[in-house]
Amino acid sequence: MVLVIDQLKKSFGGVRAVNGVSLEVRDGEIVGIIGPNGSGKTTLINLITGYYEPDEGLIEVSGKRIDGMRPYAIAALGVARTFQVPRVFKRLSVLDNLAAALAFNRRAREGSEERARDLLKTFDLWDKRHEPAGNLSGGQQRILEIVRAMMTRPQLLLLDEPTAGLNPLFIAKLKDILLDMKNEGTSTLIVEHNMRVVVDFCERVVAMSEGQIIAEGVPAEVLESPVVIDSYLGR
Ligand SMILES: Nc1ncnc2c1ncn2[C@@H]1O[C@H](COP(=O)(O)OP(=O)(O)O)[C@@H](O)[C@H]1O
Ligand SMILES: [Mg+2]
Repeated sequence: MVLVIDQLKKSFGGVRAVNGVSLEVRDGEIVGIIGPNGSGKTTLINLITGYYEPDEGLIEVSGKRIDGMRPYAIAALGVARTFQVPRVFKRLSVLDNLAAALAFNRRAREGSEERARDLLKTFDLWDKRHEPAGNLSGGQQRILEIVRAMMTRPQLLLLDEPTAGLNPLFIAKLKDILLDMKNEGTSTLIVEHNMRVVVDFCERVVAMSEGQIIAEGVPAEVLESPVVIDSYLGR
């Protein structure tokens, strides 16, 4: 099991953003997280990656307890992420953004030049490799951030709405790469609003509402579940 979460809780003032979430992700599994805005999806990723400290509960990555650890220490265990609003190093070149991901990860440096070239070519960013990342469009910055997270060949990849603003061709390419990474053992947790992507990418989906998991299972069933439909309609 690459990720085990048990009874995780995080409040902000009176808002119970994550309110007793338990979840397991197996090695190589691709799991979707859906739910209306404000249901706690991003907070869950921030807890797993150490950006927020849980109020209660436990998080283990590959059997090691990580709740309370700092983000860099969790990243060093092979957990990579992207942000809902991309955070690239705007004044660094595209290539230097990728190099930054490898700075603390000796293992991932092997073959990294080739990997960077392949990924950048796949997403039409190779010609921009010497440009400051701040010159890229919003969609290109999102892709750069995804590529940066992939550079380290993580055990666990956490993607927060990665397909927002991406064209269908790039979405298809993203799927291919995630499947390649799955075959190399990477597990992916993907927060996604595009239900076609959820059905297409994910073996299992977890639906959240008001900080809790309200349904879990294969995508087709979860998306048709009345509690999930009701949560989106705000009933
Ligand atoms: N840093 C924060 N400070 C205060 N409230 C927050 C913070 N992060 C998230 N929240 C609140 O927690 C709830 C869940 O937010 P979030 O996890 O971003 O939801 P989602 O990603 O599902 O849209 C929301 O009510 C949001 O306003
Ligand atoms: Mg969010």
